[in-house]
Amino acid sequence: MSSNLFKKYSVSLDKSHYEILIGRDIIAEAGRFLAGKTDDKRVLIVVDEFLKDTALNLLLQELTKEGFKVYIHTFEAGKQNKNINEAMKIYEVLESNDFARDSAIIAIGGGVIGDLVGFVASTYLRGINLIHIPTTLTAMIDSSIGGKVAINFRKTVNAIGNYYHPLLNIIDFQFIETLPDRELKGGLAEIIKCSIICDRALFDYLSTHSTDILNCEESSLVTICSRAIEIKLDHVVGDVKEQNKRLKLNYGHTLGHAIETSTGIFEEVYRHGQGVSLGMVGAALIARDYMNYNDDILHKHEEVLKKYGLPVRVESGKFGFERAKLLKECLRNIWKDKKRKGNKLRFILPVEVGRCEIYNDVPDKLIERAFEYLITE
Ligand SMILES: NC(=O)c1ccc[n+]([C@@H]2O[C@H](COP(=O)([O-])OP(=O)(O)OC[C@H]3O[C@@H](n4cnc5c(N)ncnc54)[C@H](O)[C@@H]3O)[C@@H](O)[C@H]2O)c1
Repeated sequence: MSSNLFKKYSVSLDKSHYEILIGRDIIAEAGRFLAGKTDDKRVLIVVDEFLKDTALNLLLQELTKEGFKVYIHTFEAGKQNKNINEAMKIYEVLESNDFARDSAIIAIGGGVIGDLVGFVASTYLRGINLIHIPTTLTAMIDSSIGGKVAINFRKTVNAIGNYYHPLLNIIDFQFIETLPDRELKGGLAEIIKCSIICDRALFDYLSTHSTDILNCEESSLVTICSRAIEIKLDHVVGDVKEQNKRLKLNYGHTLGHAIETSTGIFEEVYRHGQGVSLGMVGAALIARDYMNYNDDILHKHEEVLKKYGLPVRVESGKFGFERAKLLKECLRNIWKDKKRKGNKLRFILPVEVGRCEIYNDVPDKLIERAFEYLITE
């Protein structure tokens, strides 16, 4: 292994086999890898507008050395652009340049680019070669793993989608350096989530190493990212289509989504990870009341989330909301949850830190109480 390559996973999901590489300054690996894999020498790089000047040089050199004809398409990330119009622009580049099934697309960006480009790769000619190079923490440990690809349609998030795996996934920590604080913390919320659903040792590590992690100290990032990736893979293997075990990865999402949607009518108040942070606190409160626990699990949640500067309450006034109205909105929006079965919401609740289960019969009263706890004046 080169000294820049810290870890390598061989993944088998559905009928696909591919590798995940974790390292620093390793994106040129994509060029070497493709040279040995594909006969066609056309490759399209779709890259976040923000990253086009910083990330590409080494990769371009390598691809050119290997004889590839490289096309570059940039666009601005952000959920408003994860749509069919942006997908059409990529289809146009592929079609007008005679891309074939064994040509390739490399997606360099956060979850928006990964999901959108993954969707295009899965549908163009019924599937062409794809390499993910995720550049946000969320994309590294979550969206680029597990095969879900999608675009939003009108008001519905991820309305049109597919399951599609890449040939290679390169997780390169060079990208963490430029990440805004909010994006870093949003990704950390998902890692905390992973620890609470199934890994007490990871939870303890996160609790004791917050300073190193928030300073992006490399060995601590390798520890938490590789564990989060292993957890995601473990929950996806055998349940790619989210029938059972994979559902647990949605811990904190049911209440969290309702808060994100209800507060984000005019502009985004909470990034997804920040919503998940709030949702986990709410779920811990529901677990306390549903299973007659003391406050221990709830306090542990709040303690670790605060260490990472993640929200544990929604201060309605601060964002210009009237508390009673926001409560009502949240109670309405929670019914849009995709995990709902008929007229029952499904909740993932912590039995202890490091173990969660799925419950189908949480009384409405407890859901209401959770929002009342989370949403302050
Ligand atoms: N497929 C899945 O399983 C899955 C799982 C979780 C989330 N998602 C999807 O992921 C999307 C969210 O992804 P995200 O949180 O990465 O958001 P994003 O892709 O919108 O990126 C967030 C912001 O960070 C910027 N950015 C990206 N990399 C950067 C870097 N290295 N340095 C500085 N800025 C950088 C982007 O330009 C953007 O402004 C949503 O659409 C969500 O639905 C999918």
